Amino acid sequence: MMGHNKTGLTAIGAFLLLTSAAGAAAPLKAAPNAVDTAIAEKSAVLADQFQQRLQQALRAAIQEKGLPGAVDVCSTVAPTIAAEVSAASGVQVTRIAERNRNPKAHVPRDARAYYGELAEEPVESGKPATRMWHSGGGQSAKVNYLRAIPMLGQPCLSCHGADVDPAVAARIAKLYPKDKATGFRPGELRGAMLIRWNAASLTKPE
Ligand code: HEC
Repeated sequence: MMGHNKTGLTAIGAFLLLTSAAGAAAPLKAAPNAVDTAIAEKSAVLADQFQQRLQQALRAAIQEKGLPGAVDVCSTVAPTIAAEVSAASGVQVTRIAERNRNPKAHVPRDARAYYGELAEEPVESGKPATRMWHSGGGQSAKVNYLRAIPMLGQPCLSCHGADVDPAVAARIAKLYPKDKATGFRPGELRGAMLIRWNAASLTKPE
């Protein structure tokens, strides 16, 4: 794993040096190459890790505490898992959504156009749609990866659907007075994983 990582990061470093002059928000989609593929693969692994851990925690919480109690668990566990996955890999892993529950999950400006594309087509060739782009410059330059989180059936509908049980709705209203994340139908874009790689740290020799 380490050896594999190192080669990938060196290639990424070379790539960033070549493209950093291009400036902000250059979409990488038009010119896929080995380096895009390396970052995309690493990002997909992190997104999977995050979602698997959260879904396990969610399932356990629903079983142990029922749905209203699971709302509380989700509100504390989701940010914790995001922080842990980020720390372990030296990148920033977050969830974002236009119609969000947690207002901190708002869609950042540089991601808006790409998020709009995912909303139009959340699933491409049977997989959650993804986009990559560059943002910023110098020390704050980032390589960004966005992956759709499509709305599914249960358990998602219990907390994000049109017909949320009153006890669950009350818990949500208490914790998230500005909640915008109900009324979703399966197949719609519920949100997205946003993974930001610090370009400066990618270019550092290990
Ligand atoms: C027990 C209730 C519950 C269930 C079931 C549930 N969620 Fe959530 N969801 C929440 C809560 C609470 C938050 C806010 C978490 C936070 O504060 O970070 C949230 C946040 C999210 C977010 C982050 C963006 C935002 O709006 O804040 C996404 C994306 C999301 N949920 C998708 C799903 C999907 C997909 C499923 C089904 C696999 C699902 N949720 C199941 C309660 C739930």
